[in-house]
Amino acid sequence: MKQKPVVVVTRKLPAAVEQRLQRDYAPRLNPEDRIYTADEIVALAQGADAIIPCHTERLNAQVIARLPAGIRAICSFSVGFDHIDLQAARERGISVTNTPDVLSDATAEIALLLMLGAARRAHEGAELVRTATWREWSPTYQLGIQVTGKRLGIIGMGRVGRVVAKRARGFDMEIHYHNRRRLDPEQEMGAIFHATLEDLLPHCNFLSIHCPATPDTRNLLNAERIGLLPRDAVVVNTARGAVVDDDALIAALRAGKLFAAGLDVFNNEPEIHPGYRGLANSFLLPHIGSATRETRDAMGFRALDNLDAIFAGREPRDRLV
Ligand code: DGY
Repeated sequence: MKQKPVVVVTRKLPAAVEQRLQRDYAPRLNPEDRIYTADEIVALAQGADAIIPCHTERLNAQVIARLPAGIRAICSFSVGFDHIDLQAARERGISVTNTPDVLSDATAEIALLLMLGAARRAHEGAELVRTATWREWSPTYQLGIQVTGKRLGIIGMGRVGRVVAKRARGFDMEIHYHNRRRLDPEQEMGAIFHATLEDLLPHCNFLSIHCPATPDTRNLLNAERIGLLPRDAVVVNTARGAVVDDDALIAALRAGKLFAAGLDVFNNEPEIHPGYRGLANSFLLPHIGSATRETRDAMGFRALDNLDAIFAGREPRDRLV
């Protein structure tokens, strides 16, 4: 009987996904959901055929160079792939895939939640109620900024950015965007394209970031660019922390240049820049953009579809390399 391919699964995945893995593969699971070191990943990969990592495992050039020759595929349980050195994988002849599409709705929900929560100071209000420090209603108490009818700027009008635009239209927002290429009118749906970030930013009462983390986008939102936003703008990030210069954003929040920030992703998670924690105008979530039962199942199944294709000699749907 043909041996099932051995798959290293770096994190505990949803039950239905692990069941399918156990049916079709010989998985090396991580029931305790420990974060493996690079050495542990390399050790676990001995005698294995593939790896399913998450964004929490850095498969950089050094780690990829140490993987055994038997590793044919890295099928990431994530849409982002900044944790994998694609060039190093290419050089080793390892196929790499991600899980686009299936998390766009869930991530857009969190972007809207952050936008609304940061603008309406939801976290502060929730804290008042929970800690019994809410005194009474007052006409000037807990005043936020209205979202309805404002201008929303989107950086990166890919799958998630387009869903955010669609949902934001429900709040009568005027959509502006910057993207590497202008969308066709059918996808644009009236959104206003700006060829440069510098052109986009002065229009944004709200700014939502949806571009990937690459060497080109590192610290893309820096002090100079924050300076171009209108006073009292709200910044939302559900993409990657690396896209934001933390010191610059914290300084702008402290100075009251920005009204608030809603952040689901950070540099160096979970050890985030401590400056965010002390700010009342930062609404912070623990990287839960795709954290719904439906989406996490779908991400796992999509990763497995890619794995199945590679081991069946078919082209995987989401090949990066
Ligand atoms: C993704 O899929 O990239 C999310 O950030 C979770 O890893």
